[in-house]
Amino acid sequence: MGLTLVLFALTGCGVAVEDPPGTTAAAPELSIPSTWAFSTDTLPVVADQGMVVSTDEYASEVGVAVLRDGGNAVDAAIATGFALAVVNPEAGNLGGGGFMIVRNAEGGVFALDHREKAPLAATRDMFLDEEGNVTDAATVGHLAAGVPGTVAGLWEAYRRFGSLTWNRLLQPAIDLAAGFELRERQIATLVASQNGIRQNEEAARIFLPQGRVPQVGDTLRQFELAGTLTRIQALGAADFYEGETADLLVAEMERGGGIITGEDLAGYSAVWRDPTEFDYRGYTVYSMPPPSSGGVTMAEITNIVEEWTLREYPWHSPEAIHLMTEAFRRAYADRNEYLADPDFVEMPLTDLVSQEYAAHRAATITMDQATPSEEVRPGVESYTDETNTTHYSVVDSDGNAVSVTTSINSWYGGKVVVEGAGFFLNNTMDDFAAKPGTPNQFGLVQGENNAVSPEKRMLSAMTPTVVTDPTGDLFLVAGTPGGSTIITTVFQTISNIIDYGMNVVEAVNAPRVHHQHLPDQLYYEHGGLPGETVMALEALGHTVVERDPGPPGSYFTGGMSGDVQLIMRMPDGRLEGWSDPRRGGRAVGY
Ligand code: DON
Repeated sequence: MGLTLVLFALTGCGVAVEDPPGTTAAAPELSIPSTWAFSTDTLPVVADQGMVVSTDEYASEVGVAVLRDGGNAVDAAIATGFALAVVNPEAGNLGGGGFMIVRNAEGGVFALDHREKAPLAATRDMFLDEEGNVTDAATVGHLAAGVPGTVAGLWEAYRRFGSLTWNRLLQPAIDLAAGFELRERQIATLVASQNGIRQNEEAARIFLPQGRVPQVGDTLRQFELAGTLTRIQALGAADFYEGETADLLVAEMERGGGIITGEDLAGYSAVWRDPTEFDYRGYTVYSMPPPSSGGVTMAEITNIVEEWTLREYPWHSPEAIHLMTEAFRRAYADRNEYLADPDFVEMPLTDLVSQEYAAHRAATITMDQATPSEEVRPGVESYTDETNTTHYSVVDSDGNAVSVTTSINSWYGGKVVVEGAGFFLNNTMDDFAAKPGTPNQFGLVQGENNAVSPEKRMLSAMTPTVVTDPTGDLFLVAGTPGGSTIITTVFQTISNIIDYGMNVVEAVNAPRVHHQHLPDQLYYEHGGLPGETVMALEALGHTVVERDPGPPGSYFTGGMSGDVQLIMRMPDGRLEGWSDPRRGGRAVGY
């Protein structure tokens, strides 16, 4: 029996957009198969003042307490970020990097790049063996780590926008590191990653006490991490990049055959960049520019999709999925070829985000046939001849908004804990094209532009996003983890709201699809598409693949795309938020 959703019929959690520009007025019916794991008819979390939505309830509570103390959205984001480094060690981090979009109440939008960098001693072929094959050193162990950017990023955000004391913002994370009660969410990720964690003595000592995954209700004590956070509280980013934590990190590298040096750490800085800004059906989307591919790729997707009135096709009808897929395919072909660190490569960004280029791309889409990916080349040259984690969202009572996606790449990164400092290092070097033209751990086939080079930032898919409505008021704060699926997940969340008028729960909980050009496969979440839709898509020529659910009970690893943390500002000024049930987070408001 299919679960039928009737849009606009929900009370108390109604939609903000009754007749979005560029769409038809009639509200379509949406059908979700009974095989789908999550209900969409729950009421969202509602708040009058401020809200924090993250993948972990402890961290969301920390952020809201900062807002209640009079802190602004950036203060709350910083405190939430440090708390996630403690309670979400599989993704929240000190040893990784990320991106932050800030939109202040006056409408100024700022993009902070604190992505990891390749160490100075990195070389183009450092992840190839003698036969030229890619080794696993890009994903596991010390060489997999880029120079971490998170602490520099949070420090820089504080320097520019912070209002409470730095001391206040660090204290909750320090308290949590001294000991917190483990919940189901944390246990699930430890169960999933225990074999990798066991390979690192220090990681196993802290996270698998007595050699076992702890149980719900056990207290996890992270004394070394508490010490690191206390030093950062006292000295700011200087401790991490030039002080005792830097020394511990370099010692770890020397012990484990890594290449990050004191010079790498001292030379790291977070960078303010111009946000990628584009229009979608009258709404303005602000997202992350390179070295994230998120904003540019989503711009190309939305621009292509805008050539149609998506809402004329029922939500998740074969036609709607086909159209999105063809847009994803084309945008990812360009992403994977062109996009990389802007400090290292020239990119045709103006073309990639232009409606004119999208129209050119869209002209090759037919509604009755999938275009094989081998026929979809990166498009800008030919066009020009004619003329390529965890997220938290915060809104405060003044209307300032912050959207942060942060990552150590794989769960628990490269499975290396810095001895004496208590945090995991990233394995984000794998986001480079270790061997251009061959897939990375997300199956992304990326080009020469994203090859490894000293001090270069590896291309990311992270897509922290803020959307304003046609009057210029704050509308959405959104983002997700999910590797290569991040961009398509953020797009579908936004489209679910703008094109289909869903509320936050529906927009987040509804099943998603994904295509990334190569491999030429249209993925759907486990149980997320009815058999007849799959057959209709196959008849159009798509190779349709259901994501593997993994072992029983492993929602947190298998079968799902992303973990969206979403806030929507309603016309009456209240906030509605929803944390994706896929990983068990929580929206907290006041
Ligand atoms: O920056 C990127 O694109 C990846 N390092 C993101 C990894 C990720 O989202 C993993 N989480 N599920």
